[in-house]
Amino acid sequence: MKLHRSLFSLFTATIAVTLSASDHASGETMFPARYLRDFGQVDSIVEQMTLEEKVNMLHASGNFFSGGIERLGFPEVTYADGPLGVREELQRNGWAGLGWDTDFATYFPSCAGLGATWNRYLAQQNGVGIGAEARYRNKDILLTPAVNIMRTPLCGRSYEYFSEDPFLTKQLAVPYIIGVQSQDVAASVKHFAVNNQETYRETISTEADERTLREVYLPAFKAAVQEAGVFTVMGAYNRFRGESLCENGYMLNTILRDDWNFRGVVISDWSATHDTVKSALNGLDIEMGTLKDFNDFYFADPLVEAVRNGQVPEEVIDDKVTRLINVLLNTGKTNPDRLPGSFVSDLQKDAVYQTAAEAIIMLKNEGGLLPFDLSKIKSVAVIGDNADYKQGAVGFGAGVKAAYEVTPFQGIKDRFPGVDVRYAQGYEQRYQPPATDRYEDLFKRGIDYSVNQELFNAAVQLASECDVAVIVGGGNRMYETESADRPDLRLPYAQEALIKAVQEVNPNTVVVFIAGGAFDLTDVSKETKSILWMSYNGSEVGNALADVLSGKVNPSGKLSFTMPRKLDDMGVHALNAHPGDGKEVVYKEGLFVGYRWLDKQGIDPLYPFGFGLSYTTFEIGTPVLNKQEVSLFDTVEIQVPVSNTGAVDGKEVVQAYIGKSDSAVERVPFELKGFEKPFVASGETVTCTIRIPVSELAYWDTEAHGWRVEPGDYQIYIGNSSRNLTQILHITVKE
Ligand code: BGC
Repeated sequence: MKLHRSLFSLFTATIAVTLSASDHASGETMFPARYLRDFGQVDSIVEQMTLEEKVNMLHASGNFFSGGIERLGFPEVTYADGPLGVREELQRNGWAGLGWDTDFATYFPSCAGLGATWNRYLAQQNGVGIGAEARYRNKDILLTPAVNIMRTPLCGRSYEYFSEDPFLTKQLAVPYIIGVQSQDVAASVKHFAVNNQETYRETISTEADERTLREVYLPAFKAAVQEAGVFTVMGAYNRFRGESLCENGYMLNTILRDDWNFRGVVISDWSATHDTVKSALNGLDIEMGTLKDFNDFYFADPLVEAVRNGQVPEEVIDDKVTRLINVLLNTGKTNPDRLPGSFVSDLQKDAVYQTAAEAIIMLKNEGGLLPFDLSKIKSVAVIGDNADYKQGAVGFGAGVKAAYEVTPFQGIKDRFPGVDVRYAQGYEQRYQPPATDRYEDLFKRGIDYSVNQELFNAAVQLASECDVAVIVGGGNRMYETESADRPDLRLPYAQEALIKAVQEVNPNTVVVFIAGGAFDLTDVSKETKSILWMSYNGSEVGNALADVLSGKVNPSGKLSFTMPRKLDDMGVHALNAHPGDGKEVVYKEGLFVGYRWLDKQGIDPLYPFGFGLSYTTFEIGTPVLNKQEVSLFDTVEIQVPVSNTGAVDGKEVVQAYIGKSDSAVERVPFELKGFEKPFVASGETVTCTIRIPVSELAYWDTEAHGWRVEPGDYQIYIGNSSRNLTQILHITVKE
């Protein structure tokens, strides 16, 4: 790793970072947050501006631009979407691409892909990589990461979110944001908040009790503000307790600004603003969106009007502009030495490949079919629409015009020299006709489960002729999409029938799923020897898959969500608490999101949260605590020996969950509070240290309206998945 301070100027202190993704282990090469600095000259800049000039900075001036103040040295503010990559250039007032040839970009692994790595270092590297591309494309604000909790597997945007678990989400989002902002670009953590479904997303009001809100849905946002120093926050489409998030004083002023001391700017999601005065007074700073004349925006002429007629004090406007200019100065917007960024360089390729490789989760491998012995295999049938389908640019919402995307078929062909690798599509994406011809409704259509017999037969035939078959199915970014949730957990397009038929003619079949949220794999799991799972994992996805298949890479991904046996095994669905009635969705399951519900109810998941296999075997030895009695400001340190007892090197994710069986308040049985991912060579033992600040044990005390660590005994369960916790420790928090 090379870390060198390169540019220091009047406006920004910038650390340029060059890291090689290959020198990582457990995150020790990470670098710290760059918090917002106060620039003394901001007040004098704002003093020179007219009301119109100030308001001009508070609304969109293009689909991905907001106003600047040229005469004082600030050009328009430029935005781009993440998290899959820096989005292509679009029309000023529309969503069509401009067709430039200079806006290709790296397709980065989705946040769900990062979630599967359980690797903070890689999260930071992806942040650095995408941040550098945003700089290269001259962007000031990058609309990433998305840290909403995967409350239901059906959520169309599951792939954009890290996990069903708030701790894992924040542990990965924080280094990612720090990485982005190290590149002189502001990150924008989104979508604030309780935006966990796409159905009715623009009208629905989320009703979550305060404790659930604080313990499940807000921790990642809070950590983004307090631990990563995120410069901007995006207000969500939905409402919370009746108030739209972009005019919700409780969320934006009370929690974000007063409780958390957020000093950056709040940007609306696109067209998520509905009221000039409410939004202005309740904490929104910038209105973004399209589809109308920019002067008609709530935060354009109507805001000037609202100031003139006394509904909004001018100091409120000054405050917003002051914070915006401060953010811009912190990104080096006026700094001649601002970092130049980089484009599809080794920095990005390395991070994207390493992440794609570590994000592959091996769910099953019976009979040692994997890894393939390439000296014995002469032919491979690669089957499935997803095997040769480019996911980066498709779908509704933030995609990326990928500079390159190695599909699974391409990767296997390139990386299996001397092997006859052939492709058959097997199934095709088939939909029922959309309800209307509006563009967004195109993505709300049902699935057609009928079989394309010709494709089906050709694939089965190919499988029968080859030594091994690799089927690549799952969802895709046309089905898992913004603005629509999935209707159910079924694998689409009759792919189950195909998997079955292929296995009948070729028992040496590996099934690979590419998807964002969980699908129903119950039947497939009974019949299939080897199953791999991955998300929409970026430009290098095919290379990474090929390397896992061949054993060049030992899989080390772990599920960041529960794979249930059926939908009703998830609390949210057992309680019929999704998607609500169009006006309101009540989070009836409360704290019992994801594995917390299954653990409480004693339901067996198909594959549990935190689960993933390796080509080697690990043993987690007896952990040792630094002390057994702790006080509020202590950090519990646990030394955990991990032995690699198999024949190949590998990485294991050691996970620590905390429970309090005698709690005076309702608790989940246990929850993730620490993890490390050591590399352990075959035959060796490595001791890793898991650190858990005692403050992490706090629950939200509704009566006192604050965090409280209950004194007394706690259990710490240690293992390599939420259902394989082989070690238990006890600590006592002193009164
Ligand atoms: C999405 C945001 C995105 C914005 C701009 C919205 O529909 O919810 O995540 O950043 O569009 O593309």
